[in-house]
Amino acid sequence: MVDQTGPGGARHAASRRNFLKAGLLGGAAAAASAGMARAAGDPLITEVQDWNRYLGDGVDAAPYGKPSEFEAHVVRRDVPWLTSDPVSSINFTPLHELDGIITPNGLCFERHHGGTAIINPADHRLMINGLVDTPLVFTMEDLKRFPRENRVYFLECAANGGMEWKGSQLNGCQFTHGMIHCVVYTGVPLRYLLEEAGVKTSGKWLLAEGADASAMTRSIPIEKALDDCLVAFKMNGEALRAEQGYPLRLCVPGWEGNMWVKWLRRLEVGDAPWAQREETSKYTDLLADGKARRHTFVMDVKSVITSPSPQAPVTHGKGPLVISGLAWSGNGTISRVDVTIDGGRNWQPARIDGPSLSKALHRFYLDINWDGSELLLQSRAIDDQGLVQPTKDALRAVRGGNSIYHNNGIQTWHVNTDGVVENVEVS
Ligand code: MTE
Ligand code: CO
Repeated sequence: MVDQTGPGGARHAASRRNFLKAGLLGGAAAAASAGMARAAGDPLITEVQDWNRYLGDGVDAAPYGKPSEFEAHVVRRDVPWLTSDPVSSINFTPLHELDGIITPNGLCFERHHGGTAIINPADHRLMINGLVDTPLVFTMEDLKRFPRENRVYFLECAANGGMEWKGSQLNGCQFTHGMIHCVVYTGVPLRYLLEEAGVKTSGKWLLAEGADASAMTRSIPIEKALDDCLVAFKMNGEALRAEQGYPLRLCVPGWEGNMWVKWLRRLEVGDAPWAQREETSKYTDLLADGKARRHTFVMDVKSVITSPSPQAPVTHGKGPLVISGLAWSGNGTISRVDVTIDGGRNWQPARIDGPSLSKALHRFYLDINWDGSELLLQSRAIDDQGLVQPTKDALRAVRGGNSIYHNNGIQTWHVNTDGVVENVEVS
């Protein structure tokens, strides 16, 4: 079990109490007062604390800032038994600790097939070849002279939730749903580069290739390449992290993470898909009749409650409880998220707060007054195409019991009367 409080647990509890007390003045959570501290007699109020008595570090202490030491438990984690080697493996975003819609760079999950390539940007090249009028090679400097755009997108691995296909398994949304991140990308629309090279009319597909040891390659339809794909060099305002493809990665908004080739070094225009490993033996969907569906590019409408969740139990007892989660769709925006606290008998619309951007994470909340009884929490997202997140049973009816990829089924968390949360399935 992950340590919930961290070394600053007691102090956190104190500031949380004060915050809630302040909230009560607004009347929003009027029923809450029972468990809340009074200032009188609290040594954290009545006694001068060390941080108030002594000078702190100067401005030169941390030229590149890090999170507070009390947040040291907020890290990417892996599941050691999942893969045979950490070099071709995955770690997971700690979704249960995050809020809003943007993932901090250092917490974005990583999926590598051959480890992180370390590339000096001065030595990096991007080639465009194949069915083009003029094959081209760009340096990073060349790329930064094209007009650029800023876009917020989620990236979800097609295998996110794959371990949950047959039933609930991993105890935490970090592990069941954490193969996702959402950042602001800065990059050049791929269309500009393809126009510069001049795509021949016979050019229908694009092969994107990485410069890492796995030289990962994926085929992308030319319509998508000319639509909203970006060749990105920044995330959340700073250079891509090495593990996210520094100095250059492809963004294929709304489509499965495997296509977002990192350390992007080559784009070949062709007239048909290439049938590479990652689009034949991997990332295809086994159907109920035993046949495999080859291309499932779009990441379908999906959501998950991030708190409470197994790694984020309810520690404050009954009364006001903020239920929070994430919803997303590779088709566009999220128009509604419904939440149930009784395993699907009754649903109520959650409050979506923050930006609602196409192919980006959406943050939702349902503020309830918990009576201390058991809960079966689920969320169900609906996107702007009217697509509704399915139950896991509905998915299995179409895809059978042996699928892995593209599991967008509804997740259930069981909250017991002590606030302890477990991964269960109610379908
Ligand atoms: N690109 C290269 N060159 N090598 C890789 O191993 N992994 C792919 C994709 N692009 C990969 C790659 C997979 S399966 C996913 S889910 C995403 O990158 C993960 O991106 P992230 O590591 O930034 O989370
Ligand atoms: Co992936």
